[in-house]
Amino acid sequence: MPTSAAGPTVERNVSLRAYNTFGLPATARALARIAADADVRRLLADPELGREPKLVLGGGSNVVLTRDVQQVVLKVEVRGRRVVERRDDAVIVEAGGGENWHDFVAWTLDQGLPGLENLALIPGTVGAAPVQNIGAYGVELAERFEALDAVDLVTGRSVTLDAAACRFGYRDSVFKHGGFGGLAGKSLITRVRLRLPQPWRPVLGYLDLERRVHETGIAAPDARTIFDWVCEIRRAKLPDPAEIGNAGSFFKNPVVSAEQCRDIIGRDPHVVHYVLPDGRCKLAAGWLIDACGWKGKSVGRAGVYERQALVLVNRGGASGAEVVTLARAIQESVYGRFGIRLEPEPVVI
Ligand code: EPU
Repeated sequence: MPTSAAGPTVERNVSLRAYNTFGLPATARALARIAADADVRRLLADPELGREPKLVLGGGSNVVLTRDVQQVVLKVEVRGRRVVERRDDAVIVEAGGGENWHDFVAWTLDQGLPGLENLALIPGTVGAAPVQNIGAYGVELAERFEALDAVDLVTGRSVTLDAAACRFGYRDSVFKHGGFGGLAGKSLITRVRLRLPQPWRPVLGYLDLERRVHETGIAAPDARTIFDWVCEIRRAKLPDPAEIGNAGSFFKNPVVSAEQCRDIIGRDPHVVHYVLPDGRCKLAAGWLIDACGWKGKSVGRAGVYERQALVLVNRGGASGAEVVTLARAIQESVYGRFGIRLEPEPVVI
């Protein structure tokens, strides 16, 4: 039984090494497994832990742990997947926050429900997906989002948030912001509902997928084929966290003004960039880091992945501090050469 009438199971002095995809060492003073909304309410009512600061942990694929965690760690283990509603214009599907994201994507395809195939193989859980508005190969979670259920970590109240309330941006949402109006550390996502538009239309605009269409001669791939292509592309250039600790892209792709972009292109004509609708440019951070000579380099036991400079890896036994030191050195050299400040994607704790 995941829960009891007395409340969720609370474990003491728990190693978090297996709970973060970087494989960094850190210990949680207390860890509570949350399998249902009611578990949060029972924990809040606990005389000892109820009022302590809390840290919500999903699949641990977007954190860099640099120290032991004094907050009470809430490990989201809400399960379940279901088709909620079939409408003419869309099918609504739902999954528990603790479900593995990739398994959920595969499940939707098994149900004959395409729409998430471009987001295959992204590490992490369903509950973490809206936090950083995961995106890949031309599709962002926000474009498929219907609503989510969350529990307020102060009042214990269950609430439902629509897309507007989530304030999605590029790898950003209300759940990443503290302060007034932000929800960072203030709520725990229990269920996410996604809208799969009908009729289904493939998204093939991303360069790597266009290349596949060309190479295979399959001009109108079905969703399963796109799923397989995305898995192959990712496996070829991104390390599998089960083998090499990492948190996916370590930096966001920076957005610069049209003027700054022209300036950089003037100096480095090969810089990979995408013009945005408002005239600004998004630059490929991986290219900038690569251009500074970082690919394959290491600082201590933290390194830059050989096949994709945007991904920092644990070469074995690295500490969070080593990862942060490497990240700072990269930021400094990119700033020195291009005048651009790279912003980390994962949350540093
Ligand atoms: N590039 C280099 N050298 C490198 C890495 C990249 O020259 O070492 C160049 C590539 O040749 C390419 C460009 O930079 O022309 C962009 O690289 P890529 O297509 O691999 O995509 P990305 O911008 O590095 C983003 C997301 C990924 C997502 C892919 C596919 C961010 C921060 N990253 O990566 O997301 O899977 O696009 O859509 O937006 C993640 O967030 O964890 C993640 C993996």
